[in-house]
Amino acid sequence: MTRFQQLLATLPTQPKTWLVTGVAGFIGSNLLEALLKLDQCVVGLDNFATGHQRNLDEVATTVSAEQWARFRFIEGDIRDPVACRAAVAGADYVLHQAALGSVPRSLDNPLTSHDVNVTGFLNMLIAARDAGVKRVVYAASSSTYGDHPGLPKVEDRIGRPLSPYAVTKYANELYADVFAGSYGLESVGLRYFNVFGPRQDPDGAYAAVIPRWVAAMLDRQPVFINGDGETSRDFTFIANVIQANLLAATTDDAEGKHRVYNVAVGERTTLNQLYDDLRQSLLPQAPWLAEAAPGYRDFRAGDVRHSLADVSKAETQLGYVPTHRLRDGIAVAMPWYVRHAARC
Ligand SMILES: NC(=O)c1ccc[n+]([C@@H]2O[C@H](COP(=O)([O-])OP(=O)(O)OC[C@H]3O[C@@H](n4cnc5c(N)ncnc54)[C@H](O)[C@@H]3O)[C@@H](O)[C@H]2O)c1
Repeated sequence: MTRFQQLLATLPTQPKTWLVTGVAGFIGSNLLEALLKLDQCVVGLDNFATGHQRNLDEVATTVSAEQWARFRFIEGDIRDPVACRAAVAGADYVLHQAALGSVPRSLDNPLTSHDVNVTGFLNMLIAARDAGVKRVVYAASSSTYGDHPGLPKVEDRIGRPLSPYAVTKYANELYADVFAGSYGLESVGLRYFNVFGPRQDPDGAYAAVIPRWVAAMLDRQPVFINGDGETSRDFTFIANVIQANLLAATTDDAEGKHRVYNVAVGERTTLNQLYDDLRQSLLPQAPWLAEAAPGYRDFRAGDVRHSLADVSKAETQLGYVPTHRLRDGIAVAMPWYVRHAARC
């Protein structure tokens, strides 16, 4: 039995209160669903900047009425210290997901990304410290590796950030470290690598590559690859991210008050391979893709060329065992993407 399987068995017998920030977003709403299914109490904070009420409504359909009654939603902004204090009151654990994602968004508007991702993060740390929560687990990012050429990426070897977004996520780690040293606040940073899965927004200028491409393929629109297609990523299915969050929050094996872990699979896929995997898996619903080929355009500013995680630290210290590789995740997520595309 893995440590996560043990946790799944024990958590329902010991319900805790969890604050999930960014709860109306992709990762936040999946954490909400997982926690409610484990009979936990959840407080959610979100200002719907990029999240949606429809994500919360969808979670409501996946849990029992009794489980849904254990969820309390606060519409509020993490830039507002009062909202952060109200949300964290009574929480055992904080899973901090609220942020403005996307490298291009941060290049277009660095000040807003800074306000939300750094000032908002600091507000949450202060509120968590003052409320005496057991631990804050927060969404860090693989973008923190910046221009470091080494592969696979190992937690303690980072380069210079390549975007304002990367700066904000690295600043989170620095603040978490200082709060651990200065105030004893326990925290764990999870450096996510290209997460994908149901409820990831396919729409808008800053949509992530998998939902954006699937939506375009189903809509018979052209798909463009930025660069030559040999750029690679360690695509991480949402189930692996949920596992890492729950393990990070609850592990007793605490070595130090602040730690950072890669959360990924440890496998690299090029954009050309990804295109082909998605095309193949959609062929039954979209036979016109048999002859399809991607277009190529310029590399995108701020993007790292290759990304591949060494996940051994999370495996050893948290008992993390990724359950879904890219193709497993695509198989699970595809029906959601297809349903979502049909609704639009
Ligand atoms: N998806 C990925 O591949 C990935 C990779 C690395 C890190 N991350 C990080 O994971 C976290 C979740 O990302 P996601 O993919 O679910 O994105 P998302 O945009 O779907 O979710 C973010 C949520 O935060 C909320 N939010 C934004 N600003 C807020 C504010 N000022 N106050 C309150 N709520 C606010 C949004 O409304 C949204 O619901 C983010 O911190 C992101 O930076 C994501």
